[in-house]
Amino acid sequence: MLKHKKILIGVTGGIAAYKLPLFVRLLKKAGAQVQVICTPSALQFVTAETLSVVSENPTLVHFFDEKTGMWNHHVELGLWADAFIIAPCGANTIAKMVQGECNNLLLTTYLSARCPVWIAPAMDLDMFLQPSVVQNIETLKSRGVYVIDAESGQLASGLEGKGRMAEPETLFNTLEYFFNPPNTHWKHKNILVTAGPTFESIDPVRFIGNHSSGKMGICIAERLIQLGANVHIVLGPSHETPPANCKFTRVTSAQDMLEACETAFEYSDGLIMAAAVADYRPKTIHPSKIKKDDAELTIELVKNPDILKTLSLKKTEKQFCVGFALETNNQEEYARKKLNEKNLDAIILNSVSSQTGFQTDTNQVTIFDKSGKHIDSTIQSKEEIAVFILDTLNSWIFE
Ligand code: PMT
Repeated sequence: MLKHKKILIGVTGGIAAYKLPLFVRLLKKAGAQVQVICTPSALQFVTAETLSVVSENPTLVHFFDEKTGMWNHHVELGLWADAFIIAPCGANTIAKMVQGECNNLLLTTYLSARCPVWIAPAMDLDMFLQPSVVQNIETLKSRGVYVIDAESGQLASGLEGKGRMAEPETLFNTLEYFFNPPNTHWKHKNILVTAGPTFESIDPVRFIGNHSSGKMGICIAERLIQLGANVHIVLGPSHETPPANCKFTRVTSAQDMLEACETAFEYSDGLIMAAAVADYRPKTIHPSKIKKDDAELTIELVKNPDILKTLSLKKTEKQFCVGFALETNNQEEYARKKLNEKNLDAIILNSVSSQTGFQTDTNQVTIFDKSGKHIDSTIQSKEEIAVFILDTLNSWIFE
């Protein structure tokens, strides 16, 4: 419940600011106390008066109240709040948050805030794809700022694509969920999650790898953290940012991943293995760059250890192991075979297509358990698939 929670809302200049009164209404209806801070440019899109009326508090914009000369104390605001949500959060404010700039009340309050902070980015699609913006959002995430992802659709520019601020209901549900996560068996469990590819060196400049981005495993880790689990993520060479509030080990090869997982598994209640581990590695790593000549090149490969199987054969009665199966044909047959051969409690089947598997933002899975049960998801975002997987495993493994 958000009743009596103190919610600080930062509003920056962007067309989505017109939706903010609806968000404030939802919070007030739920019994929250709301204080709004606008940047001066936000007032070109929503009026201070409207926000004051719906929040039942004067909207703050400047360091000093223009009429009374009273100081709007950013440190007090930062300490007062249970949650600070900046929505819409434009590229300019995101960049300034990264740099630690503080030339307005909103930014100064952000620097003083001790509570959890969310941003709901909103901007045009090409701005959203700018490497500097992408990097700034990743930097904020790595510092523990929660990001409520923008949605796709019609943009103010007339273009169509990703960049719309999440709807007020989504902002509200995010906060409500944060303060009242569903009571699941994941709370306080120690869960080891793997994600990303492994790279197996051929020589100092070349490797054997695969297309895994690490997104699926990271979404699972993020959801587990929301549910109150203690997460250790072992991540292969991925460009994705690992979640901030968990233990993190970076690895490169399958052998590195095995070593990291063997140590971590001893202290874990369970393993969810979303990494795409290379099945083979070159028998020897050439010490210097292999020079090209006219002859064909043959590289002898040897089998990598099967990390999942190694750990699942060691698991105690109190531990569980869940794997993924990435198949292109005979999918169900191969997935069930892996479930049995690798001694798993459940396996999550997904396939390779333009909307599923490697690199995509969406996925579709079928989960099988050792008793023969199975359940299908629809195609959904990887965040939603993580919810589906963990809700299913919550009842199948623990109940
Ligand atoms: O990272 P993304 O771009 O988001 O893509 C997500 C994903 C497609 C990589 C993910 O959803 C997925 O399917 N991961 C497992 C891919 C895989 O290696 O599948 P597999 O069927 O080859 O292996 C079966 C299981 O054994 C997997 O859990 C794998 O982690 C594990 N394994 C495989 C080989 C090996 N040597 N050791 C292992 O532990």
